[in-house]
Amino acid sequence: MITSKMQSAMNEQIKHETFSAYLYFAMVAYFHSQNLDGMAQWMKAQAQEELDHAQRFFNHINERGGRIELQPLDKPQAEWASPIAAFKAALQHEKFITGRINDLANLADEENDRASGIMLQWFVTEQVEEEDSVSRIISMLERIGDSGHGILMADRELGRRVAEA
Ligand SMILES: [Fe+2]
Ligand SMILES: [Fe+2]
Repeated sequence: MITSKMQSAMNEQIKHETFSAYLYFAMVAYFHSQNLDGMAQWMKAQAQEELDHAQRFFNHINERGGRIELQPLDKPQAEWASPIAAFKAALQHEKFITGRINDLANLADEENDRASGIMLQWFVTEQVEEEDSVSRIISMLERIGDSGHGILMADRELGRRVAEA
């Protein structure tokens, strides 16, 4: 049985992961408005991953005999100054999420909740991957700068991403 502290912390995390999807879908819309369909495709895969993250917490609470309590979501930002500004906002958001995951892992230790600790290990690793992949895109876009040709190449490259199963 999940402790009530862990249950509410994980319910809160369902909100954060779902908001991540919401924010990334807003970026998908922004990229489409800029005719950057490849970046939109990349971000759409990212948003879908976030819904999977939310579902992992949802399932864990259920499997441990807890109760799901969905929280209200904020309205995400809709416009960014440039593609790189959007990816920088995504990185900043993922750093926030990493902090939340670390807090959850610490809580699992405090509560002596081994099952949650093991489940959260996957997220600790996933956050390393998330921050790394967005950081790489930012440095690629920094190198490209204002080159229209470079942006189109980057757009094509990012469009190759498909949602992971
Ligand atoms: Fe996530
Ligand atoms: Fe990921």
